Amino acid sequence: MEKTFIMIKADGVKRGLIGEVISRIERKGYRINKAKLFKPKRELVEEHYIEHREREFFKGLVDYIADEDVMAMEVEGEDAIEVMRLLIGDKDPKVAGPGTIRGDFSSSLSQNIVHGSDSKESAERELHLWFKE
Ligand code: PPS
Repeated sequence: MEKTFIMIKADGVKRGLIGEVISRIERKGYRINKAKLFKPKRELVEEHYIEHREREFFKGLVDYIADEDVMAMEVEGEDAIEVMRLLIGDKDPKVAGPGTIRGDFSSSLSQNIVHGSDSKESAERELHLWFKE
């Protein structure tokens, strides 16, 4: 069994998609071990996206999540990291397939409902960061 970090981002919460996203995760057979709905501080969001700090979209990415309600979750199941990424779909709306969360609900490259860790190292780092207390 593997654990991954999933976040329903600010646009997902504002659009009332928490239930939809959690339902898709659970129906796929994965377990939500931990969940918290809160407004993350700017420093936490900057640390989360630290690998993108030099990118031109970094400030906009942090602005749209910092101090807004998000749902942070630890999700567990077989090959959870890879399977959750498939369930979420590509960040590019032209590529995200129907049946994926982004394919069904997002038309934006940047405001795309859900984040999922992209590797074992990221999952460990992100779970520690978001659930450290
Ligand atoms: S990349 O381009 O391959 O390094 O991107 P990736 O590792 O998939 O994730 C980048 C995260 O930043 C968000 N984002 C954008 N990406 C690309 N271009 C633009 N303009 C952009 N704006 C925001 C993207 O949705 C990824 O967010 P997460 O939450 O990690 O999925």
